[in-house]
Amino acid sequence: MNATILSPNLTRRGFLGAGALGSGLLLAGSIPALGRATVSAQPTAGGAGTATGYPLYLPPALTTAALTAAAATVDFGPATSPVLAYNGSLPGPTVRARRGDSVSIAFTNRLTEPTTVHWHGMVVPTPADGNPRDAVAPGGGYTYAFPIVQRACMNWYHPHPHMLTAEQVAYGLAGAFIVNDADEDALGLPSGSRELPLVIRDADFDRNGTLLYKPTSTGYEGKVPLVNGTRAPYVNVQTAVYRLRVLNGANGRVFRLALGTGAAFTLIGNDGGLLERATQVGSIEFGNGERLDLLVDFRGVPVGGSVMLTDLNTGWDLLEFRVATAVTDTYVLPTALSTITHLTNPVRTRDFTFDGMSKINGQIYSLNRIDFQVPFGQVERWRFKTGGNAPHPVHVHGASFQVQSRTGGRGMLFPWEAGWKDTVLLQDRETVEILIRFDTYRGLYLLHCHKLEHEDAGMMANFEVI
Ligand code: C2O
Ligand code: CU
Repeated sequence: MNATILSPNLTRRGFLGAGALGSGLLLAGSIPALGRATVSAQPTAGGAGTATGYPLYLPPALTTAALTAAAATVDFGPATSPVLAYNGSLPGPTVRARRGDSVSIAFTNRLTEPTTVHWHGMVVPTPADGNPRDAVAPGGGYTYAFPIVQRACMNWYHPHPHMLTAEQVAYGLAGAFIVNDADEDALGLPSGSRELPLVIRDADFDRNGTLLYKPTSTGYEGKVPLVNGTRAPYVNVQTAVYRLRVLNGANGRVFRLALGTGAAFTLIGNDGGLLERATQVGSIEFGNGERLDLLVDFRGVPVGGSVMLTDLNTGWDLLEFRVATAVTDTYVLPTALSTITHLTNPVRTRDFTFDGMSKINGQIYSLNRIDFQVPFGQVERWRFKTGGNAPHPVHVHGASFQVQSRTGGRGMLFPWEAGWKDTVLLQDRETVEILIRFDTYRGLYLLHCHKLEHEDAGMMANFEVI
C-alpha cells in the first residue's frame, strides 16, 4: 500500500503563477525538470546492428498526494526539450494503489489552459472522472477522490479537457496507474525491478531535439518512437522472467508488438487485469489507450545478449533488453490466473456508428447534450461499427466490458481481447459487439474514440447511468 497518496492531508492549491509562464503553452526552460534523472548524452554500443543507446526512463512512484501539470524540461536521451508534464516527469509518476484503498490526489493546473485528469480504466464516481465539463482553470486546483473498487490491473491517467486533450497528451501529460490486490499477489508475479511499466508512443522532434506536435484530422502519427519518454532506449535485465505492463499511449498510432528474436510473449492480462489463463502470442496489435500485461523470459539468453521489442507495423525498434546479469530464477507461472464472471443475457442492444473522423451516430460531441441514458445494473449489448477512417479505438468510461465478437475487417477476436476491457480497436469495416453493465455508480460518463484527434473533433458522446 502506498500510504502517502492516501493521505487526507491535502492542500488545495490556488493561484500558482501560471501567468508567469508566458502566453505560450510551452516556454523553454521555464520550469526545470523535477523528476527525471539526467542521463548521459553519449550513446553506448547497442546490440548487433541497432542504434539504441539511452537508458530507459522509469518514472518515480507518486509518493505525495499531489499532482501538478506544468511546463517542464525533460531529457529524451539525445537532447532535452520543453514539454508539459505531471510533477516534472514524462511519463508522469506511476500511481500505485490497492483494491479497497481510498485515493485522494490534489491536482494543480499550472498550464496556461484548462485541463482535467481522467483516470482511464478506473471506475470512479462522476465528479472524479475528469469529464470535460469539470475543467480545472489555469492556476486552479481540484481534488480527485475515489475508492479503488476494481481488481488488479494497469490503468493510466491523462488530460480530458474539451477539444484540448490531443495536444496536452502529445506534449507529455500521461502516467501509469497500477492497482494491486490479494488475488494477484498470490501468483507471485515478477515485481520490483522485474516489473516494467512501458508507455509506448510516437513523437516528432525538430533539429534541436525539441518535441513537436503536428496534428492532422486523420490522427497524429509521429516519426519517432518513445518508450517512457526515452528515444532509442535500452534497459539492462537479468536472466529472469520479466513482467511488462504496456500502454499504447500514442495519440493515433496502432502498434503491432513483437520480439526481435521471434520468441512469443506470454500474455497474462490486458485493460481490466489478469486473463483466466496465459496464452503465448507472437505479435499483438493494440490501439490507443489499450494495455497489455506480458511476461518475457530472458532465462535462455546469454549474458551480453539482447532482445529487441519491435513494432511490426513500422519496423521500429522500440526497446532493447540487454541481458547484463546472470541470476537463478525458478519462477513458474500458475496455470489458472484469475476468475472472470462472464456477462450474459443482455436486456437490450444499442448501436453506435463511428462516422468519418468526428461523429458518433451522425453527431458531433456537445458538452451539454446527454446522448443517451443507461439503466444501472443491467447487462447491455453495445455494437460498435465503422465504415472507414479507422483505426477507431473505442473507449467507455464508468465500467469495464467484455468483447463478444468482431465481424467484417479482421473478422475475429484476439487473445488480448478476452477478459475485461475498456478500450477495443475498430479497424475499417468492422463491427464489434461488447457486453457491458454499469453496476458501480450512477452519473455522467463518456463513450468515445481514443484516437485523440478524433475525440477532440467530436467523436465522443455523453451518457448518463440512471
Ligand atoms: Cu483515456 Cu475518455 O479517455
Ligand atoms: Cu476515431
